[in-house]
Amino acid sequence: MQKLIIKGKKKLSGTISISGSKNATLPILAATILAGNVTLTNVPLVKDIFTMLDLLKFIGIKIKINRLRRSIKLTGKKKNINTLAPYKLVKTMRAGVLVLGPLLTKYKKAKVSLPGGCAIGTRPVDLHLFALKKLGAKIKIKDGYIIAEAKEGLKGAKIKFPNISVGATENALLAAYGASGKTILSNCAIEPEILDLVSFMKKLGCKITIKGRRIALVKKKNEREKVNHSIIFDRIEAGTYLVAGALIGKKIIIKDIKPKILKCEVDILKKMGVKINLFKNSISISKSKRLNKINITTKPYPGFPTDLQGQLMVLMTQAKGLSKIKENIFENRFMHVPELKRMGAKIEIKNKIALISGPSKLTGAEVMATDLRASVSLVLAGLIADNRTIINRIYHLDRGYEFLEKKLKNCKAGVKRV
Ligand code: EPZ
Repeated sequence: MQKLIIKGKKKLSGTISISGSKNATLPILAATILAGNVTLTNVPLVKDIFTMLDLLKFIGIKIKINRLRRSIKLTGKKKNINTLAPYKLVKTMRAGVLVLGPLLTKYKKAKVSLPGGCAIGTRPVDLHLFALKKLGAKIKIKDGYIIAEAKEGLKGAKIKFPNISVGATENALLAAYGASGKTILSNCAIEPEILDLVSFMKKLGCKITIKGRRIALVKKKNEREKVNHSIIFDRIEAGTYLVAGALIGKKIIIKDIKPKILKCEVDILKKMGVKINLFKNSISISKSKRLNKINITTKPYPGFPTDLQGQLMVLMTQAKGLSKIKENIFENRFMHVPELKRMGAKIEIKNKIALISGPSKLTGAEVMATDLRASVSLVLAGLIADNRTIINRIYHLDRGYEFLEKKLKNCKAGVKRV
């Protein structure tokens, strides 16, 4: 298995171009089931995307990848589609469950493996099924599969989500696309990745309006056959490199982004005393002499994202005083803490709140990645630790970070993959 070896304390300077968003690409790939010919550009060629492409191929979508241009051409089919998403393809990548809505709404049936849990939590899909049932689907769970059907087709409905869920909002939008009449979703997730899915669906011929957490959708008659779409930038990748710059940046420029989408993250970094300047499509950031402690709670967008919690925790280890992080989204998302403590971080967990006292000196160690975002927080810790850090199981990183070591090496980091 591959490892990353990081030689710490090397000041970073240079420019990092941010890739397309994994979490926007996945639902948009699921949406291509609803379309004819789709060309996606600015696609991050990371492991999860290839897993989703394998699933779409299994279903019957024709796929052509242009790695150089980072674009994908997908051609849907009217018939002989396989409306099955097997366990082997969904178990490693939970977002496979997003094919449920489009298959059901277009082919009136779908058999999709329950995604199962992962390191950060049980990851139920009850809210997904709640929405599909409201649209008229008959759903049963058998042998670890969701078996859904809608013989007369789905019907538009008013759906108020009891809790906010990114995936359930996406599945409901995709299912509502083919439903007769109007669908109104309330208490939706409104992450930028969902807004990118909405802009893709509008190109398919959908009338969609968004007001706060309320999304109204009506399918127009004139379905478009040919659709081109460029994926929005990855705000979590951007946030990760902003923290790298705050930790050990002489001066780093993060480009190909929309800074206003990162308002919450930028405000927090400024409050901590980080030197940060915003431009039209980029942000420049440098390490400051002194970092102030801060308390944050992870929330749905536009709040502070759970996907940046582990990364910010590393920065908090260098802030003076006691910082706190309350993880409100997932039940087990502190897997990076034991490994950070082995590197010298002073962190205690008390009822879902991490208490981080700093500044603490980190020392390189051999550590193990457990999930995508926890692994990148270990990379950040390695960048500022004394001597060498060895990170095992970096396949977690490859699921969601495109060219990570290349982007860091271009900024003079001492990172190599062995
Ligand atoms: C998406 O996961 C992202 N994944 C996650 O990013 C991200 O952490 C999460 O949203 C929150 O922002 C993709 O977009 C592919 P949720 P998702 O449904 O949709 C509970 C990464 O690192 N819930 O918003 O699964 C759930 O257990 C990944 O890129 C239910 O109870 O997240 C969680 O506690 C990790 N029932 C909370 O809601 C449901 O039916 C939020 O989950 C669905 C979710």
